[in-house]
Amino acid sequence: KKTANQLLVIFGASGDLTARKLVPSLFNLYIARQLPENFVVLGASRSDMTDKDFRNRVVLESKYLKPRLEDLKENYIQGFSDKFFYEDLGGDYDTHYDRLRKRVEDLNNKYHTEGNIIYYLSTPPTLYETIASRLAEVELNKENLGWKRLIVEKPFGYSLDTAKALNNGLQKYFSESQIYRIDHYLGKETVQNLLVTRFANTIFEPLWNRNYIHHVEITNAESVGVEKRGGYYDKSGALRDMFQNHLLQIVSLIVMEPPIGDEPEEIRNEKVKALKSLRIMKNDKELHDNTIRAQYMDSTINGEKVKGYRQEEGVDKNSTTETYAAIKFFVDNWRWKDVPFYVRTAKRMPTKVTEVVIHFKSPHHHIFQNSGVNNKDNKLIIRIQPDEGILMKFGVKVPGQGFKVERANLDFYYSSLAQTHVMEAYERLLLDCMQGDATLYARADEVEAAWEFVDPILKYWETGDDVRMYGYAAGVWGPENADELIEGIGYWRNPSSN
Ligand code: BG6
Repeated sequence: KKTANQLLVIFGASGDLTARKLVPSLFNLYIARQLPENFVVLGASRSDMTDKDFRNRVVLESKYLKPRLEDLKENYIQGFSDKFFYEDLGGDYDTHYDRLRKRVEDLNNKYHTEGNIIYYLSTPPTLYETIASRLAEVELNKENLGWKRLIVEKPFGYSLDTAKALNNGLQKYFSESQIYRIDHYLGKETVQNLLVTRFANTIFEPLWNRNYIHHVEITNAESVGVEKRGGYYDKSGALRDMFQNHLLQIVSLIVMEPPIGDEPEEIRNEKVKALKSLRIMKNDKELHDNTIRAQYMDSTINGEKVKGYRQEEGVDKNSTTETYAAIKFFVDNWRWKDVPFYVRTAKRMPTKVTEVVIHFKSPHHHIFQNSGVNNKDNKLIIRIQPDEGILMKFGVKVPGQGFKVERANLDFYYSSLAQTHVMEAYERLLLDCMQGDATLYARADEVEAAWEFVDPILKYWETGDDVRMYGYAAGVWGPENADELIEGIGYWRNPSSN
């Protein structure tokens, strides 16, 4: 696809995301010659910096620019750096938009970016609406000359109400087709591959339903704690930080019906339908029985002492914010009726891993020794990260007398596609937006449908009856009580095992 000439304005340009993700992704695109001929970046933030300071900070002296072919760095870095400019927006992102407009026009004229602009909002979410309205005041949202697009980072809202208010707020100044809500999990190859696995093969889809699937399990584990983000995290928690967005995106791709084509709206329509079919938990009993939350406690991992969550910097000493969440739910539609879904996400687990496990039902009638044992059932394991790939577990005959069944693995690893470089999530998503492809961005109704499901859980955790909060030692697979959730159906798979 051709990428039009354009200007990228990054709000929050002095922040972590710009240095860590956005600029390195742009650098990879630059080296791969995927940026348009005429392309410049204007950083905007509250910091007092010159163009030169900004270039030094995010490009020339950045420790994050690590192109895949390291020796190319020297050849490209200067040319890349020349594309960066900076505008100080003063104290509160509320003023100086006339100056910003002037700067945008100058850059546009000088570098022939044809009036096409992406605004990337990487500021605290409380500023999103202010920025959108100020841009509109100086008519920087107008598409009379070139298109205008707005990328919004997560978190998108804090609750259903705030998400709706944010959608309404932004849509006053930008139309829905101009708004790109980013969820970096959708930029991951393996997440996109969920669509391909399901809809480019004949062998899975006929089995992808309640007749053959026993339950679905999704694990998202991180070994790190809250790192330096205690202040943000304590107001957020695992459910808001990971589940409402990244994990429900994965769920929607597993649950959705086959779209009629691969146009953005065709895919997004089906995802919204999928999210709307999640059974919303209604009363305290249901919420009590189907949700588990917990916090990590201090512990020793590999001989190193690690802090408990409540001792982390920026975290309230009496915090009730969860660092572990496990949710069991059902999907009320023809395909999934009565198939339980188990989704867990947490910090300070033994390892970093994200995987989806489709557990198939046992054969209806067992004729072989051992073949009915739960862990011998067929499983499709989709490894989102690391060791990206797909693993199919199936029964084989153990050589020798009789018919003893053992499980074997049929596996595919992305690393075996050595010729193909796997694009970083932000690279893919930025390029998509530059080309106007919103397939991998969340639509307003999609975000709201996800919040509809999450909101009652959060409310229950805040104010419900008999709400439990467990602890788990940093470095283990969460609280033992989470086993109760899945008891009778199976057990949580240990993702470190094969
Ligand atoms: C972010 C969360 O959205 O995703 C972080 O805010 C989390 O808390 C991160 O660490 C995980 O992303 P990834 O790509 O490393 O799985």
